[in-house]
Amino acid sequence: MSTNKNLRVAVIGGDGTGPEVAAEGVKVLEAIAQLENIEYETADFDYGGNRYLATGEILPEGAVDQLATFDAILLGAVGHPDVAPGILEKGLLLELRFRFDQYINLRPVKLYRGVETPLAGKRPEDIDFVVVRENTEDMYAGMGGFLKKDTPDETAIQTAIYTRKGCERCIRWAFDYTRKRNKKKQLTLVAKTNVLTYGHDLWWRTFQEVAKEYPDITPDYNHVDACCMWMVKNPEYYDVIVTTNMFGDIITDLAGILQGGMGVAAGGNINPEPGGTSMFEPMGGSAPKYTGKNVINPIATISAVAMLLEQAGYEKAAGRVIDAIQTVTGTKMKSQAAGKMGYSTTEVGDLVCEAL
Ligand code: IPM
Ligand code: MN
Repeated sequence: MSTNKNLRVAVIGGDGTGPEVAAEGVKVLEAIAQLENIEYETADFDYGGNRYLATGEILPEGAVDQLATFDAILLGAVGHPDVAPGILEKGLLLELRFRFDQYINLRPVKLYRGVETPLAGKRPEDIDFVVVRENTEDMYAGMGGFLKKDTPDETAIQTAIYTRKGCERCIRWAFDYTRKRNKKKQLTLVAKTNVLTYGHDLWWRTFQEVAKEYPDITPDYNHVDACCMWMVKNPEYYDVIVTTNMFGDIITDLAGILQGGMGVAAGGNINPEPGGTSMFEPMGGSAPKYTGKNVINPIATISAVAMLLEQAGYEKAAGRVIDAIQTVTGTKMKSQAAGKMGYSTTEVGDLVCEAL
């Protein structure tokens, strides 16, 4: 499937409101590509709950190989009310993260202009940090089992896996990112070394060693519980956070609400190696109750498109998209909540295109 297009994006709309927000992301991609002379193409893939219910398969044979031919994947949402929890999450989202070895989950936490935060007295300049979440190990690795299942003596174990290679590549990437971001030049490791004295000791020792290679970056440490407190009290303290997969999952929902909620928060699942396939997504779910109503907020997905552009090397285009988003959040939208934006999903997409 070779073409002469510079940027080829696979679009997986997925479940619920996923296809609606993905469509707005593609709309903005089209507009910015025209303005910046980016030759691009997209291809749609119908993976998700409906296909699974119809065919019994989540990712058909050859799907990963086919997706691997693209420069990036844009994912709408995963989660279907008629499919048991965990099936699509594991079979689609986690499967793609693992199969493409997308070992960085990059989650910028930025309060856009005009967006309301639940934190009293905090302004956009106070909420501007980035979480680098390890994305392939920890309790997400799926190691575990049951003993004496369905008996009164039942036991379940779920093992957290941490490897030297896994934490080192993530930590090193986070140091490089902190340097490139060039703000406070501070990287905070968030872990729980006082209790997880094996796994997080490995993270701690690796962090100390890698830090020596970055004398221009201030290495910093927070226990995860304290981090939750500080994030609410003094979000301006943070520049870049690097953390394990499970803690990263949890603290980025907290961080997400600080930046205005799931309608705004976006993330990138990145394989930074040459030729790696990365996947960009809004952090919110499939919102079944809003499906098909044209009321869901597409800003997070449009931010995900900006991240995709940046990762693909189109930094100027990415910056223009973020600026256009801020024009729309700052001067047009009434709220970031679904149904309360003052505009429909498609209108918000149009407004961002106009603001480019
Ligand atoms: C996220 C989500 C996923 C995760 C779920 C849907 C498997 O919560 O991207 O943060 O836990 O990583
Ligand atoms: Mn999550």
